[in-house]
Amino acid sequence: MSATQPHSARDHFNDFDLDSPELNDDFVEVMDDLVRRCPVAKSNVGHGYYVVNRQEDVRTVGQNWETFSSAEGFQPNRPEGMPFMYPEESDPPYHNRWRSALNGYFSPRAVRSYESSVREHANHLIDAFIERGECDFVADFAATLPGRVFFSSYMGVPIEDLPPLIKAIDEALFGPIEGRAQGWGTALGYINAYLERRLKEEPRGDFVDAVLKGVELDSGAPCPWEHKVSVVTDLLAGGLGTTTYLLAGLTYHLATHPQDRARLAANPALHDKAIEEFVRVYAPVVALARTVRQDVEVAGHTFKKGDWVMLNYAAACRDPRLYDNPKDVDIDRDLPVNAAFGFGPHRCIGSHLARLEGKVVMRELLRRLPDFALKPGAEITYTTGLTRSMNTLPLVFAPGRPESAVR
Ligand code: HEM
Repeated sequence: MSATQPHSARDHFNDFDLDSPELNDDFVEVMDDLVRRCPVAKSNVGHGYYVVNRQEDVRTVGQNWETFSSAEGFQPNRPEGMPFMYPEESDPPYHNRWRSALNGYFSPRAVRSYESSVREHANHLIDAFIERGECDFVADFAATLPGRVFFSSYMGVPIEDLPPLIKAIDEALFGPIEGRAQGWGTALGYINAYLERRLKEEPRGDFVDAVLKGVELDSGAPCPWEHKVSVVTDLLAGGLGTTTYLLAGLTYHLATHPQDRARLAANPALHDKAIEEFVRVYAPVVALARTVRQDVEVAGHTFKKGDWVMLNYAAACRDPRLYDNPKDVDIDRDLPVNAAFGFGPHRCIGSHLARLEGKVVMRELLRRLPDFALKPGAEITYTTGLTRSMNTLPLVFAPGRPESAVR
Protein backbone atom coordinates (compact mmCIF):
# COMPACT_ATOMS: atom_id res chain seq x y z
CA MET A 1 0.00 0.00 0.00
CA SER A 2 1.35 3.46 -0.70
CA ALA A 3 0.24 6.80 0.64
CA THR A 4 -1.26 9.69 -1.29
CA GLN A 5 1.41 12.31 -0.85
CA PRO A 6 -0.34 15.60 -0.15
CA HIS A 7 2.59 17.86 -1.01
CA SER A 8 5.83 16.01 -0.43
CA ALA A 9 7.16 12.79 -1.90
CA ARG A 10 7.44 10.99 1.43
CA ASP A 11 5.58 7.68 1.76
CA HIS A 12 4.19 8.10 5.27
CA PHE A 13 2.63 4.61 5.23
CA ASN A 14 5.95 2.78 4.84
CA ASP A 15 8.45 5.41 5.94
CA PHE A 16 6.75 7.29 8.75
CA ASP A 17 8.80 9.70 10.89
CA LEU A 18 7.22 11.73 13.69
CA ASP A 19 10.08 14.23 13.54
CA SER A 20 10.16 14.68 9.76
CA PRO A 21 9.55 18.11 8.20
CA GLU A 22 7.23 16.43 5.68
CA LEU A 23 4.92 15.29 8.46
CA ASN A 24 5.03 18.71 10.10
CA ASP A 25 4.15 20.47 6.84
CA ASP A 26 1.35 18.13 5.73
CA PHE A 27 0.18 17.10 9.18
CA VAL A 28 -3.58 17.23 8.80
CA GLU A 29 -3.61 15.59 5.37
CA VAL A 30 -1.25 12.81 6.50
CA MET A 31 -3.28 12.07 9.65
CA ASP A 32 -6.50 11.90 7.60
CA ASP A 33 -4.86 9.63 5.05
CA LEU A 34 -3.37 7.32 7.70
CA VAL A 35 -6.62 6.87 9.62
CA ARG A 36 -8.63 6.20 6.46
CA ARG A 37 -6.33 3.90 4.55
CA CYS A 38 -3.47 2.66 6.69
CA PRO A 39 -4.32 0.73 9.87
CA VAL A 40 -0.62 0.14 10.64
CA ALA A 41 2.16 2.39 9.31
CA LYS A 42 5.85 1.56 9.53
CA SER A 43 8.80 3.73 10.48
CA ASN A 44 12.41 2.99 9.59
CA VAL A 45 13.93 5.52 11.97
CA GLY A 46 16.54 4.03 14.34
CA HIS A 47 15.38 0.62 15.51
CA GLY A 48 12.09 1.20 13.68
CA TYR A 49 8.54 1.29 14.98
CA TYR A 50 4.94 0.74 13.93
CA VAL A 51 2.05 3.21 14.19
CA VAL A 52 -1.59 2.19 14.76
CA ASN A 53 -4.01 4.79 13.48
CA ARG A 54 -7.69 3.77 13.72
CA GLN A 55 -9.43 4.70 16.96
CA GLU A 56 -10.60 1.15 17.65
CA ASP A 57 -7.04 -0.18 17.38
CA VAL A 58 -5.53 2.67 19.41
CA ARG A 59 -8.04 1.84 22.13
CA THR A 60 -7.27 -1.91 21.97
CA VAL A 61 -3.52 -1.31 22.29
CA GLY A 62 -3.92 1.30 25.03
CA GLN A 63 -6.14 -0.94 27.13
CA ASN A 64 -4.06 -4.10 26.74
CA TRP A 65 -1.17 -3.01 28.97
CA GLU A 66 -0.11 -6.62 29.65
CA THR A 67 0.85 -7.07 26.01
CA PHE A 68 1.66 -3.45 25.13
CA SER A 69 3.89 -2.25 27.95
CA SER A 70 4.84 1.29 28.95
CA ALA A 71 7.74 0.15 31.12
CA GLU A 72 10.35 0.61 28.36
CA GLY A 73 9.23 4.18 27.78
CA PHE A 74 6.87 6.32 25.73
CA GLN A 75 9.26 7.07 22.89
CA PRO A 76 11.00 4.81 20.43
CA ASN A 77 14.73 5.47 19.91
CA ARG A 78 14.91 6.85 23.43
CA PRO A 79 17.56 9.57 23.80
CA GLU A 80 20.60 8.17 25.56
CA GLY A 81 20.70 8.95 29.27
CA MET A 82 17.04 9.95 29.51
CA PRO A 83 15.72 8.98 32.94
CA PHE A 84 12.41 7.11 33.20
CA MET A 85 9.27 9.13 33.93
CA TYR A 86 6.74 7.75 36.40
CA PRO A 87 3.86 6.97 36.36
CA GLU A 88 3.87 7.21 32.57
CA GLU A 89 6.72 4.78 31.94
CA SER A 90 5.51 1.96 34.16
CA ASP A 91 2.85 -0.77 34.10
CA PRO A 92 0.25 -1.89 36.64
CA PRO A 93 0.27 -2.79 39.46
CA TYR A 94 3.00 -0.24 40.33
CA HIS A 95 1.41 2.26 37.98
CA ASN A 96 -2.01 1.83 39.67
CA ARG A 97 -0.56 2.71 43.06
CA TRP A 98 0.72 6.05 41.77
CA ARG A 99 -2.58 6.81 40.04
CA SER A 100 -4.52 6.00 43.22
CA ALA A 101 -2.23 8.30 45.20
CA LEU A 102 -2.59 11.18 42.72
CA ASN A 103 -5.98 10.95 40.96
CA GLY A 104 -7.82 12.76 43.76
CA TYR A 105 -5.79 15.94 43.17
CA PHE A 106 -6.86 16.04 39.51
CA SER A 107 -10.54 15.03 39.79
CA PRO A 108 -13.26 17.33 38.40
CA ARG A 109 -14.07 18.44 41.96
CA ALA A 110 -10.46 19.12 42.88
CA VAL A 111 -9.75 21.17 39.77
CA ARG A 112 -12.95 23.22 40.19
CA SER A 113 -11.37 24.70 43.30
CA TYR A 114 -8.67 26.25 41.06
CA GLU A 115 -11.11 28.02 38.76
CA SER A 116 -10.77 31.49 40.25
CA SER A 117 -6.98 31.17 40.31
CA VAL A 118 -6.94 30.20 36.61
CA ARG A 119 -9.14 33.23 35.88
CA GLU A 120 -6.79 35.53 37.79
CA HIS A 121 -3.74 34.24 35.90
CA ALA A 122 -5.56 34.62 32.59
CA ASN A 123 -6.50 38.22 33.34
CA HIS A 124 -3.04 39.05 34.61
CA LEU A 125 -1.58 37.92 31.26
CA ILE A 126 -4.28 39.71 29.22
CA ASP A 127 -3.64 42.90 31.21
CA ALA A 128 -0.02 42.87 30.08
CA PHE A 129 -0.89 43.19 26.37
CA ILE A 130 -4.45 44.53 26.11
CA GLU A 131 -3.41 48.19 25.70
CA ARG A 132 -1.17 47.30 22.74
CA GLY A 133 -4.07 46.14 20.55
CA GLU A 134 -1.98 43.18 19.43
CA CYS A 135 -0.09 40.22 20.83
CA ASP A 136 1.52 36.95 19.98
CA PHE A 137 -1.01 34.79 21.78
CA VAL A 138 1.42 31.86 22.07
CA ALA A 139 4.37 33.75 23.59
CA ASP A 140 2.32 36.28 25.56
CA PHE A 141 -0.29 33.92 26.94
CA ALA A 142 -0.65 30.25 25.99
CA ALA A 143 2.95 29.23 26.65
CA THR A 144 2.84 30.64 30.17
CA LEU A 145 -0.64 30.11 31.60
CA PRO A 146 -0.49 26.31 32.18
CA GLY A 147 2.84 26.63 34.02
CA ARG A 148 1.59 29.49 36.18
CA VAL A 149 -1.45 27.43 37.15
CA PHE A 150 0.56 24.31 37.95
CA PHE A 151 3.22 26.20 39.87
CA SER A 152 0.81 28.15 42.02
CA SER A 153 -2.05 25.65 42.45
CA TYR A 154 -0.16 22.38 42.69
CA MET A 155 3.43 23.04 43.62
CA GLY A 156 3.38 26.23 45.63
CA VAL A 157 6.60 27.59 44.11
CA PRO A 158 7.39 31.10 42.86
CA ILE A 159 6.21 31.84 39.34
CA GLU A 160 9.56 33.57 38.64
CA ASP A 161 11.16 30.09 38.51
CA LEU A 162 8.98 29.13 35.58
CA PRO A 163 10.73 30.52 32.42
CA PRO A 164 13.95 28.44 32.66
CA LEU A 165 11.90 25.35 33.43
CA ILE A 166 9.64 25.89 30.42
CA LYS A 167 12.78 26.27 28.30
CA ALA A 168 14.28 23.02 29.67
CA ILE A 169 11.05 21.07 29.02
CA ASP A 170 10.84 22.54 25.52
CA GLU A 171 14.36 21.28 24.85
CA ALA A 172 13.46 17.89 26.32
CA LEU A 173 10.41 17.51 24.08
CA PHE A 174 11.26 19.40 20.90
CA GLY A 175 15.00 20.11 20.83
CA PRO A 176 17.60 18.21 18.83
CA ILE A 177 17.62 14.56 20.00
CA GLU A 178 21.13 14.83 21.48
CA GLY A 179 20.05 17.70 23.77
CA ARG A 180 16.85 16.15 25.06
CA ALA A 181 18.33 14.21 27.98
CA GLN A 182 19.96 17.42 29.18
CA GLY A 183 16.59 19.23 29.07
CA TRP A 184 15.08 16.50 31.25
CA GLY A 185 18.13 16.73 33.52
CA THR A 186 17.59 20.46 34.12
CA ALA A 187 13.90 19.98 34.91
CA LEU A 188 14.59 17.02 37.21
CA GLY A 189 17.33 19.02 39.01
CA TYR A 190 14.93 21.84 39.82
CA ILE A 191 12.19 19.49 41.04
CA ASN A 192 14.71 17.48 43.06
CA ALA A 193 15.89 20.59 44.92
CA TYR A 194 12.30 21.68 45.58
CA LEU A 195 11.23 18.31 46.94
CA GLU A 196 14.29 18.20 49.20
CA ARG A 197 13.29 21.60 50.56
CA ARG A 198 9.71 20.47 51.15
CA LEU A 199 10.91 17.40 53.08
CA LYS A 200 12.33 19.74 55.71
CA GLU A 201 9.12 21.78 55.99
CA GLU A 202 5.86 21.06 57.81
CA PRO A 203 3.51 19.01 55.59
CA ARG A 204 0.86 21.11 53.82
CA GLY A 205 -1.45 18.20 52.99
CA ASP A 206 -1.14 18.97 49.29
CA PHE A 207 -0.23 17.15 46.11
CA VAL A 208 3.51 17.53 46.80
CA ASP A 209 3.10 15.84 50.19
CA ALA A 210 1.28 12.95 48.47
CA VAL A 211 4.25 12.55 46.14
CA LEU A 212 6.71 12.75 49.05
CA LYS A 213 4.78 10.01 50.84
CA GLY A 214 5.33 7.82 47.78
CA VAL A 215 4.01 4.35 47.03
CA GLU A 216 5.33 0.80 47.27
CA LEU A 217 7.23 -0.94 44.52
CA ASP A 218 5.82 -4.31 43.44
CA SER A 219 8.35 -5.90 45.82
CA GLY A 220 6.69 -4.09 48.76
CA ALA A 221 9.73 -1.86 49.32
CA PRO A 222 9.21 1.92 49.32
CA CYS A 223 9.78 3.47 45.90
CA PRO A 224 13.09 5.26 45.43
CA TRP A 225 13.46 9.04 45.69
CA GLU A 226 14.14 9.39 41.94
CA HIS A 227 10.67 8.06 41.16
CA LYS A 228 9.11 10.84 43.25
CA VAL A 229 11.15 13.48 41.45
CA SER A 230 10.14 12.03 38.10
CA VAL A 231 6.42 11.94 39.03
CA VAL A 232 6.37 15.71 39.53
CA THR A 233 8.45 16.25 36.40
CA ASP A 234 6.11 14.03 34.37
CA LEU A 235 3.08 15.99 35.56
CA LEU A 236 4.75 19.28 34.78
CA ALA A 237 5.96 18.19 31.34
CA GLY A 238 2.65 16.44 30.57
CA GLY A 239 0.61 19.53 31.28
CA LEU A 240 2.56 22.44 29.80
CA GLY A 241 2.93 22.11 26.02
CA THR A 242 -0.27 20.10 25.67
CA THR A 243 -2.48 22.73 27.28
CA THR A 244 -0.57 25.50 25.46
CA TYR A 245 -1.55 23.91 22.15
CA LEU A 246 -5.18 23.53 23.21
CA LEU A 247 -5.33 27.23 24.15
CA ALA A 248 -3.61 28.27 20.91
CA GLY A 249 -5.86 26.01 18.81
CA LEU A 250 -9.10 27.21 20.31
CA THR A 251 -8.03 30.85 20.04
CA TYR A 252 -7.00 30.37 16.40
CA HIS A 253 -10.41 28.87 15.69
CA LEU A 254 -12.28 31.72 17.39
CA ALA A 255 -10.12 34.31 15.61
CA THR A 256 -10.95 32.81 12.23
CA HIS A 257 -14.61 31.75 12.77
CA PRO A 258 -16.64 34.77 13.87
CA GLN A 259 -19.91 32.84 13.73
CA ASP A 260 -18.76 30.25 16.25
CA ARG A 261 -17.31 33.03 18.37
CA ALA A 262 -20.62 34.88 18.41
CA ARG A 263 -22.51 31.72 19.38
CA LEU A 264 -20.05 30.91 22.17
CA ALA A 265 -20.11 34.48 23.46
CA ALA A 266 -23.90 34.43 23.59
CA ASN A 267 -24.34 30.96 25.03
CA PRO A 268 -22.00 29.59 27.73
CA ALA A 269 -23.98 26.32 27.69
CA LEU A 270 -22.10 25.50 24.46
CA HIS A 271 -18.67 25.78 26.09
CA ASP A 272 -18.24 22.21 27.36
CA LYS A 273 -18.86 20.60 23.98
CA ALA A 274 -16.76 23.21 22.20
CA ILE A 275 -13.75 22.52 24.40
CA GLU A 276 -13.99 18.76 23.75
CA GLU A 277 -14.10 19.49 20.04
CA PHE A 278 -11.07 21.81 20.20
CA VAL A 279 -9.09 19.10 22.04
CA ARG A 280 -10.11 16.59 19.35
CA VAL A 281 -9.17 18.75 16.36
CA TYR A 282 -6.06 20.32 17.94
CA ALA A 283 -4.98 17.06 19.58
CA PRO A 284 -1.71 18.04 21.33
CA VAL A 285 -0.29 14.55 21.84
CA VAL A 286 0.39 13.13 18.39
CA ALA A 287 1.54 9.63 19.36
CA LEU A 288 3.16 7.75 22.23
CA ALA A 289 4.74 4.31 22.27
CA ARG A 290 4.43 0.90 23.85
CA THR A 291 6.65 -2.18 23.53
CA VAL A 292 5.24 -5.57 22.66
CA ARG A 293 5.59 -8.24 25.35
CA GLN A 294 4.33 -11.22 23.32
CA ASP A 295 3.38 -11.84 19.69
CA VAL A 296 -0.11 -10.52 19.05
CA GLU A 297 -2.37 -9.57 16.16
CA VAL A 298 -4.04 -6.16 16.00
CA ALA A 299 -5.50 -4.44 12.95
CA GLY A 300 -4.58 -7.43 10.80
CA HIS A 301 -0.88 -7.08 11.63
CA THR A 302 1.15 -9.51 13.72
CA PHE A 303 3.31 -7.58 16.15
CA LYS A 304 6.34 -9.48 17.45
CA LYS A 305 7.73 -9.50 20.95
CA GLY A 306 10.12 -6.55 21.26
CA ASP A 307 8.46 -4.40 18.54
CA TRP A 308 7.76 -0.75 19.27
CA VAL A 309 4.23 0.45 18.53
CA MET A 310 2.99 4.03 18.58
CA LEU A 311 -0.60 4.92 19.39
CA ASN A 312 -1.53 7.68 16.96
CA TYR A 313 -3.94 9.71 19.09
CA ALA A 314 -4.07 12.60 16.61
CA ALA A 315 -5.19 10.26 13.80
CA ALA A 316 -7.65 8.40 16.06
CA CYS A 317 -9.29 11.77 16.78
CA ARG A 318 -10.05 12.10 13.06
CA ASP A 319 -11.46 8.62 12.46
CA PRO A 320 -14.32 8.87 9.95
CA ARG A 321 -15.74 5.59 11.32
CA LEU A 322 -16.70 7.57 14.44
CA TYR A 323 -17.15 11.16 13.31
CA ASP A 324 -19.05 12.72 10.43
CA ASN A 325 -16.86 15.22 8.64
CA PRO A 326 -13.96 14.78 11.08
CA LYS A 327 -12.02 17.63 9.45
CA ASP A 328 -14.62 20.18 10.54
CA VAL A 329 -14.64 21.87 13.92
CA ASP A 330 -18.26 21.34 14.97
CA ILE A 331 -18.87 22.95 18.35
CA ASP A 332 -22.18 21.08 18.69
CA ARG A 333 -20.57 17.66 18.24
CA ASP A 334 -21.19 15.02 20.93
CA LEU A 335 -17.99 13.11 21.74
CA PRO A 336 -18.66 9.92 23.71
CA VAL A 337 -14.99 9.79 24.70
CA ASN A 338 -12.10 12.04 23.69
CA ALA A 339 -9.34 9.96 22.09
CA ALA A 340 -6.95 12.92 22.49
CA PHE A 341 -6.59 12.03 26.18
CA GLY A 342 -5.68 8.39 25.47
CA PHE A 343 -7.15 5.05 26.53
CA GLY A 344 -6.49 2.50 29.25
CA PRO A 345 -4.55 2.87 32.49
CA HIS A 346 -2.44 5.77 31.22
CA ARG A 347 -5.41 7.91 30.11
CA CYS A 348 -4.51 11.49 30.93
CA ILE A 349 -4.59 12.34 34.61
CA GLY A 350 -4.71 16.09 33.79
CA SER A 351 -7.71 16.06 31.42
CA HIS A 352 -10.07 17.88 33.80
CA LEU A 353 -7.47 20.54 34.54
CA ALA A 354 -6.84 21.07 30.82
CA ARG A 355 -10.59 21.36 30.15
CA LEU A 356 -10.96 23.85 32.98
CA GLU A 357 -8.11 26.00 31.67
CA GLY A 358 -9.61 25.87 28.16
CA LYS A 359 -13.04 26.94 29.38
CA VAL A 360 -11.85 29.75 31.61
CA VAL A 361 -9.52 31.14 28.94
CA MET A 362 -12.22 31.02 26.28
CA ARG A 363 -14.63 32.85 28.58
CA GLU A 364 -12.13 35.56 29.50
CA LEU A 365 -11.02 36.11 25.88
CA LEU A 366 -14.63 36.45 24.73
CA ARG A 367 -15.31 38.87 27.54
CA ARG A 368 -12.20 41.05 27.25
CA LEU A 369 -11.19 40.89 23.58
CA PRO A 370 -14.55 40.56 21.83
CA ASP A 371 -13.22 41.42 18.35
CA PHE A 372 -9.84 39.66 18.18
CA ALA A 373 -8.71 38.50 14.75
CA LEU A 374 -5.67 37.02 13.11
CA LYS A 375 -3.11 39.72 12.30
CA PRO A 376 -3.27 40.34 8.51
CA GLY A 377 -0.47 38.45 6.74
CA ALA A 378 0.23 36.21 9.74
CA GLU A 379 1.57 32.81 8.79
CA ILE A 380 0.81 30.09 11.31
CA THR A 381 3.57 27.48 11.64
CA TYR A 382 3.80 24.37 13.79
CA THR A 383 6.36 22.03 15.34
CA THR A 384 5.64 18.32 15.39
CA GLY A 385 7.14 15.41 17.30
CA LEU A 386 5.58 13.31 20.04
CA THR A 387 3.40 16.37 20.55
CA ARG A 388 2.32 19.19 18.27
CA SER A 389 2.65 22.89 18.95
CA MET A 390 1.82 26.20 17.29
CA ASN A 391 4.88 28.44 17.06
CA THR A 392 3.20 31.85 17.03
CA LEU A 393 -0.35 33.22 16.87
CA PRO A 394 -0.32 36.95 16.05
CA LEU A 395 -3.62 38.61 16.97
CA VAL A 396 -5.03 42.12 16.63
CA PHE A 397 -7.94 43.60 18.57
CA ALA A 398 -9.31 46.93 19.74
CA PRO A 399 -7.04 48.08 22.60
CA GLY A 400 -8.64 47.85 26.04
CA ARG A 401 -7.84 48.75 29.62
CA PRO A 402 -6.08 46.49 32.08
CA GLU A 403 -8.19 45.24 34.97
CA SER A 404 -6.59 45.23 38.38
CA ALA A 405 -3.79 42.67 38.17
CA VAL A 406 -3.89 40.00 40.80
CA ARG A 407 -0.29 39.32 41.57
C1 HEM B 1 -5.22 19.18 26.33
C2 HEM B 1 -4.33 18.82 27.21
C3 HEM B 1 -3.81 17.42 27.36
C4 HEM B 1 -3.82 16.36 26.49
C5 HEM B 1 -4.43 16.29 25.12
C6 HEM B 1 -3.17 15.24 27.16
C7 HEM B 1 -3.01 13.98 26.60
C8 HEM B 1 -2.52 12.87 27.25
C9 HEM B 1 -2.43 11.54 26.72
C10 HEM B 1 -2.84 11.14 25.32
C11 HEM B 1 -1.93 10.73 27.67
C12 HEM B 1 -1.70 9.21 27.57
C13 HEM B 1 -0.24 8.86 27.64
C14 HEM B 1 0.08 7.47 27.17
O1 HEM B 1 -0.63 6.89 26.36
O2 HEM B 1 1.12 6.94 27.61
C15 HEM B 1 -1.66 11.56 28.82
C16 HEM B 1 -1.11 11.11 29.99
C17 HEM B 1 -0.68 11.95 31.00
N1 HEM B 1 -0.97 13.30 31.13
FE1 HEM B 1 -1.98 14.43 29.81
N2 HEM B 1 -2.76 15.65 28.39
C18 HEM B 1 -3.15 16.96 28.57
C19 HEM B 1 -2.99 17.72 29.70
C20 HEM B 1 -2.36 17.30 30.83
C21 HEM B 1 -2.23 18.05 32.06
C22 HEM B 1 -2.82 19.45 32.29
C23 HEM B 1 -1.48 17.30 32.92
C24 HEM B 1 -1.01 17.58 34.32
C25 HEM B 1 -1.04 18.72 34.95
C26 HEM B 1 -1.18 16.05 32.24
C27 HEM B 1 -0.43 15.03 32.79
C28 HEM B 1 -0.36 13.75 32.26
C29 HEM B 1 0.34 12.65 32.92
C30 HEM B 1 1.15 12.70 34.20
C31 HEM B 1 0.13 11.52 32.12
C32 HEM B 1 0.63 10.11 32.38
C33 HEM B 1 -0.49 9.36 33.07
C34 HEM B 1 -0.18 7.91 33.35
O3 HEM B 1 0.78 7.37 32.82
O4 HEM B 1 -0.93 7.32 34.12
N3 HEM B 1 -1.74 16.08 31.01
N4 HEM B 1 -2.04 12.86 28.55
